[in-house]
Amino acid sequence: MGIAVLDRASTTYDFLIGDERLSSVLQPTPVANVMLAPATTDLASADLDIAQRENRTSLLRNAFQRDAAVMSQFDYVLIDCPPSLNLLTLNALVAADSILVPLQSEFFALEGLSQLLLTVREVREASNPGLRIEGILLTMYDRRNNLSQLVERDARDTMGSLVFETMIPRNVRISEAPSFALPVLSYDTGSRGAAAYRALARELLQNEKQMHRTGSLTQ
Ligand SMILES: Nc1ncnc2c1ncn2[C@@H]1O[C@H](COP(=O)(O)OP(=O)(O)OP(=O)(O)O)[C@@H](O)[C@H]1O
Ligand SMILES: [Mg+2]
Repeated sequence: MGIAVLDRASTTYDFLIGDERLSSVLQPTPVANVMLAPATTDLASADLDIAQRENRTSLLRNAFQRDAAVMSQFDYVLIDCPPSLNLLTLNALVAADSILVPLQSEFFALEGLSQLLLTVREVREASNPGLRIEGILLTMYDRRNNLSQLVERDARDTMGSLVFETMIPRNVRISEAPSFALPVLSYDTGSRGAAAYRALARELLQNEKQMHRTGSLTQ
């Protein structure tokens, strides 16, 4: 998103662990209507820094509640998680309404997924009963590759409608975009990668519309 390390005086670390307000952490980005709370490598040590605290899994939820007025100005808050199930990930699961799980189209990815789904169940029981699975997203998909197709079939067989119809193909424009500090939608809006992410956004909005419709029917 193009925010230089030197311009990250206040970061998500200060928001999560200190008492920094969200309004002083948020920064505008090159994308209209998108604000970013940046992190630095400090965040990598957060896990150890909070391990002894009693409220170590609800720090993010508490921080969001502290800044409810700022939070309410946004339609969506995306929390980018580390690739492992550590305390930072747990903080995100406790604070979130739903999770979107990118699944690389490779064999071992499915193993990680079952562990994640167990953790989601535990978080629901312990502290966040409303936590939904927004969807599982197959990424780095290569339809010429048998393994991609096997992982897709396996994921759809076991997770059913939890798996998004949309799949993100392996696409070189996606891998180039970060070196230009741009999202792929701005870097090459006509690329197959950008088209796939737009399709994902449409599918996600459609699912939410459906959910609200059925939700209001049952009330
Ligand atoms: N569909 C794709 N096609 C080609 N390259 C991709 C695709 N998706 C991601 N990449 C590239 O793979 C690398 C890792 O992607 P990304 O940072 O999104 O993954 P991540 O799982 O969030 O990684 P981390 O665990 O380090 O946060 C990046 O260089 C990115 O540009
Ligand atoms: Mg990442």
